[in-house]
Amino acid sequence: MSLITVKKLTKTFIRKEGNILQGRKKIPVYAVNELNLTVKKGEILGIIGESGCGKTTTARLIMRLEKETAGEIHFNGVDLCKLTDKEAHVYRKQMQMIFQDPYDSLNPGMRILDILMEPLNAHEKELSFEAKKKRVAAAIESIDLKPAEDFMYRYPHQLSGGQRQRIAIARALILNPSFVVADEPTSMLDVSVRAGILNLLLDLKKNMGLTMMFITHDLSTASYMCDRIAVMYKGKIVEIGPTKKIIRNPSHPYTKALVAVVADLNQFLEKKEELILDGEVDASVYSKGCPFAARCPHQHDECLKQPPQLEETEDQHYVSCHMGKGVKLEAEAISQ
Ligand SMILES: Nc1ncnc2c1ncn2[C@@H]1O[C@H](COP(=O)(O)OP(=O)(O)O)[C@@H](O)[C@H]1O
Ligand SMILES: [Mg+2]
Repeated sequence: MSLITVKKLTKTFIRKEGNILQGRKKIPVYAVNELNLTVKKGEILGIIGESGCGKTTTARLIMRLEKETAGEIHFNGVDLCKLTDKEAHVYRKQMQMIFQDPYDSLNPGMRILDILMEPLNAHEKELSFEAKKKRVAAAIESIDLKPAEDFMYRYPHQLSGGQRQRIAIARALILNPSFVVADEPTSMLDVSVRAGILNLLLDLKKNMGLTMMFITHDLSTASYMCDRIAVMYKGKIVEIGPTKKIIRNPSHPYTKALVAVVADLNQFLEKKEELILDGEVDASVYSKGCPFAARCPHQHDECLKQPPQLEETEDQHYVSCHMGKGVKLEAEAISQ
């Protein structure tokens, strides 16, 4: 059963470049490009890809923090893109986001008590102050900051990075959402506190029956956290499947390259193949064909003309690459 279904989701930003003397240019940035995706109820779906490939924008679109250029986002069957702000209010309560930077996401002028009360004030107005305070205390204890009284009256600057991220997690969970997006929640933290935060998220997910989208550029973390992994490149999903299948049998050249560079994962590869990635993602170049064609060692004519579609190659494992099926045979025939 799917909780979220995204159809042909597209977001094009306009970036202004140049100065008044030389003239300003408006450059489109294709951050998310006709992306299709499903998040199943109760799973942790990983979104993995290099910086700039559109992960955060996808999350912000689903959370309604950003307006889509085109496409649909279905939550429990309701297309969120068609709702007015007022209608979307009830869904906001059910979907929450944990941001990458805990130094940026908590208001420095507010005490932890007030930061955690804010969602309750917006969505559970009928509760008394005392009842809200109890909820705040329970939320603080649920993220293993105990006793809660010791933390409630502090300001964010009086907490460590790891403690701040825990507070951000408590804020996301205080309304008992059904869906949470964690956007690289440990990438700004010291290595020593990362595992603690990841395990906390796994525990909370299990105890609260959450569905989660876990965004990371780190495949090891994704393989530790996620039931399924979606590999994103230039605004599109290029491969998606159960975590084990993605790690052991990566099929898209981009996924192969991502797995090959992670030493503790590439030992599980069924077929070893050296693939080195150079260059970087440039979302301002529109791809008419395959988004990865420019960096792909197997690129051929078809890749530049037609965007490949996600196709099931083994059970639950989908890949978007022209090398699959007929085109592969043709390419092989030419090279012989
Ligand atoms: N508000 C914005 N205005 C212009 N360009 C943006 C904006 N937000 C993101 N982008 C661009 O969209 C692309 C995808 O960004 P993002 O979604 O942040 O990727 P990721 O999270 O995978 O690093 C990048 O090229 C980025 O520069
Ligand atoms: Mg990001």
